[in-house]
Amino acid sequence: MNPFPHLFEPGRLGKRRTRNRIWMTAHATLLVKDHLFTEEHIAYYVERARGGAGVITMEAMAAHPTTQPYKGKAFAFDPRMVSQYRRIAEAVHAHGSLILAQPWHRGRQTNSVTNGIPVWAPSAIPCAVYRETPHVMTREDIAEIVEGYRLSARFAREGGLDGIEVHGMAHGYLLNQFLSPATNHREDEYGGSLENRLRIVMQILDATRAETGPDFVVGVRINSDDGMEGGLRPEDWAEIARRLEATGHLDYISCSQGTYLNRMMIYPTSPEAHGYQVPATRVVKRAVGLPVVAVGRIVMPEEAEGFLAGGDCDFIGLSRALIADPMWGMKAEQGRSEDIRPCVGANWCMESIFAQAPIACIHNPAAGAEAELGEGTLRPAKAAKRVAVVGAVRAARGAGRAGGLVVPRHGAQGAARDPDSSGASSAPGKGRDPARPCAGRGGACRL
Ligand SMILES: Cc1cc2nc3c(=O)[nH]c(=O)nc-3n(C[C@H](O)[C@H](O)[C@H](O)COP(=O)(O)O)c2cc1C
Ligand code: SF4
Repeated sequence: MNPFPHLFEPGRLGKRRTRNRIWMTAHATLLVKDHLFTEEHIAYYVERARGGAGVITMEAMAAHPTTQPYKGKAFAFDPRMVSQYRRIAEAVHAHGSLILAQPWHRGRQTNSVTNGIPVWAPSAIPCAVYRETPHVMTREDIAEIVEGYRLSARFAREGGLDGIEVHGMAHGYLLNQFLSPATNHREDEYGGSLENRLRIVMQILDATRAETGPDFVVGVRINSDDGMEGGLRPEDWAEIARRLEATGHLDYISCSQGTYLNRMMIYPTSPEAHGYQVPATRVVKRAVGLPVVAVGRIVMPEEAEGFLAGGDCDFIGLSRALIADPMWGMKAEQGRSEDIRPCVGANWCMESIFAQAPIACIHNPAAGAEAELGEGTLRPAKAAKRVAVVGAVRAARGAGRAGGLVVPRHGAQGAARDPDSSGASSAPGKGRDPARPCAGRGGACRL
């Protein structure tokens, strides 16, 4: 029997079925070039579908030219996306996963250097990180943004994706700036009461659903906590979620946390508790009947299973766990969670994005290079070489799986093939306790 029955229970999103409850949440890869997908980009997503992600939300894409359009971002409002989506949808669907686009707008959380136009926001309140006084959006500007989201939905549907995730309410982006009284000081129908502050979002959701029709998945990414004084807190987000659900346009709500002012609430490093967002997500979950996605340092299937079994959420959101090990779902399903290469929360993945380089991971050398190094690409070398792998037991294990002869230097009396590979094993790889961790020099070695 599968050790994680809740995690592998099929789910529903509107009219579509998901094969399990594993949701790869959006994360920038910078594998997009000149605003278009590349082979590497497609391979990145296909690898995670092959590895068992039930639903994939692709990285945020610009909903309008006024959001920072550096070349590593795709333009969701661009009709060229239709053919781009077709290729990726077909490849991901072959593995039974759903794939969604995530149109978004950064609002004031960017600078004017990249595209040479002022940043747009609801009010002239600079972001403390970027320190630029934004252009105050007019009603015409707001209508343009709504139109950008509408076009994004149209192209996603025409491109054969399964759905769209309206982004911008989470992480302090443009729609969050409208929703929060701290950043919205408007005196027109887009400011003041919650009804007014939600108006642009409601217009976007109306336009999105009108474009997609009832069969397409439409969801939102919101925060469950902005995490700071003056920002929106869990009860505020629960009320927003109630109102969003009442539109009848949505099929799910995906929760996150934080803004650029407290960025490490979005993707904290290792000291943060695993599942740290779950308590606030639960507040949102209790307010609505829609499926809710929880995220945040969920690293192992055992943790994920516990949150689902406890009724805290309906789907488990994973970004970094799947950057570090795209085969996470497959291994969990096969009861091999000890084989998962766990995300250690070092945030090198984030650092590479900050440095405007393609995504990378300190634990997974294939991250961002799946076309070349991904699952099933490694072939035994024609000529044998001696290679020293220093202090990297899992790398040695990968070499063993690819057919290499792995000789552990510490405590080794002989050569060991990876016990999972079909090759013959010899001492000490065979007969040792597989549950026993590496005990260093002279200890058992889990190759
Ligand atoms: C490199 C990186 C890029 C991200 N980009 C996005 C994004 O484009 N859209 C989004 O909604 N969240 C983005 N996130 C946030 C993730 O979706 C997720 O909420 C966060 O990493 C916490 O989950 P985790 O602990 O499973 O990584 C990004 C995270 C990382 C690490
Ligand atoms: S670099 Fe890899 S191990 Fe480190 S946080 Fe990112 S995904 Fe996790």
